[in-house]
Amino acid sequence: MDLILSDLHANLHAFRTVLRFARRRAVRRFVLLGDLVGYGAHPNQVLDRLRRLHPRVMLRGNHDRACAYEGEGTHFSLPARLACAWTRRHLSRENLRFLQSLPRGPLTLEPGVLAAHGAPWDEDAYLLQDRDASQAFASFEGRLCFFGHTHHPGGWELDPVSHRLRGVRMEPGVWVDLDPARRYLLNPGSVGQPRDRDPRLSFMAYDAQRHRVKLHRLDYDSCGAGRAILAAGLHATLAERLQAGT
Ligand SMILES: [Fe+2]
Repeated sequence: MDLILSDLHANLHAFRTVLRFARRRAVRRFVLLGDLVGYGAHPNQVLDRLRRLHPRVMLRGNHDRACAYEGEGTHFSLPARLACAWTRRHLSRENLRFLQSLPRGPLTLEPGVLAAHGAPWDEDAYLLQDRDASQAFASFEGRLCFFGHTHHPGGWELDPVSHRLRGVRMEPGVWVDLDPARRYLLNPGSVGQPRDRDPRLSFMAYDAQRHRVKLHRLDYDSCGAGRAILAAGLHATLAERLQAGT
């Protein structure tokens, strides 16, 4: 089984909770869909732990790129821009080099299964609406693509015969069997900054053998993560949104 993790955003408190979950279940396979840093107060601690996990697939997100290279992310909101500049100043040389070495997605997880940060054709594009999903399905050939970037868990399925597209609803803790005759775009949500008005961290388990997925939502010490953001001098809205899940 793989754990599909996206948008950690340097939230060590959330990441520790995911690691505890993985340890208890002896899960050792991880896929990282980008935005490892940016927003949160613990970029080095998160990257140090991540690198020790040796994820099967790890790719960059737009915030990783903006934190790794000066002059990127100029269109970000003020709190995000300030967080990137702060992160760049505080990253160890080793972690900065690591961020700069992250590949651009999409990458192949296994035959027919892709991992991307944003859309399969553009790491910066958001898949939010049905029309985005239609465009995304037309842009790759596999049966499944995991993506992140929106911080909203969920996704779409497409019947390639009838071309019918519909949303995939996932109840936390319940396996969803994937129909081998259909194609899927699936988003695990965000570990470090959920935005669907549910402050619990979000990720997905992927059982490749049985071709099924399960969404997980876990409580974590979001107050601690928020306090660390304030203590680091990062923008207060970054702490507040963790409590609201926005
Ligand atoms: Fe993100």
